[in-house]
Amino acid sequence: MIIAIDGPAASGKGTLAKRIAAHYGLRHLDSGSLYRAVARDTLAGGGDLTDARAAAGAASRLDIATLGDPALRTPGMGEAASVVAKHPEVRAVLFDYQRNFARAKPGAVLDGRDIGTVICPDADVKLFVTATPEERARRRYLELRQIGVAISEDEVLDDIRRRDERDRNRSVAPLRQAEDAVLLDTTNLDIDAAFKAAIDLIEAAMGQAGRAG
Ligand code: CDP
Repeated sequence: MIIAIDGPAASGKGTLAKRIAAHYGLRHLDSGSLYRAVARDTLAGGGDLTDARAAAGAASRLDIATLGDPALRTPGMGEAASVVAKHPEVRAVLFDYQRNFARAKPGAVLDGRDIGTVICPDADVKLFVTATPEERARRRYLELRQIGVAISEDEVLDDIRRRDERDRNRSVAPLRQAEDAVLLDTTNLDIDAAFKAAIDLIEAAMGQAGRAG
């Protein structure tokens, strides 16, 4: 079983994906952490984020054990991630890892931007999770404050707008809802309500697939 969850910055995909994975006993991959780690390693190696070769080199040497690094969660690293994520060479290097992760037993929940469109076009269920930019900024601001990052809510809003724009308009694997993805707008839902809504959508999608098969 493969569940693909995509959506714009700070839409709550990660939290939802984690809970859905735990609910079904599946593995979880936050694909955004791959791009964040590639950005971190490119910068640490003295490379330029806009240099596709430097970034692809960092991607090919990526140590998966470092994906939990708290330094990846800062807004600066999110911004840097969206710059390296534009390089087709970087995406190509990260492709096999994600595809293999998804296919390994017992199945997985992956969240990101292009999971339903590029990485797992054959996923059993695809969700596209959104909320208004203001609501996403509010939630991310609270998260960042908890981990001690000093930033204003307006700066967070600017950051996610800029990133969404870059992610939507890039030429490879742009952020977009797959044709067969179900939309989940969490603007007016807290995390428990969003989780319940996601499970209902997944069960409905699985039921339909079962009838079709
Ligand atoms: O958590 P948040 O939604 O703020 O960001 P993220 O999922 O950690 O992704 C950081 C950046 O990585 C995004 O802005 C994208 O540019 C890039 N990304 C991507 O291109 N493809 C993915 N599957 C996941 C992330």
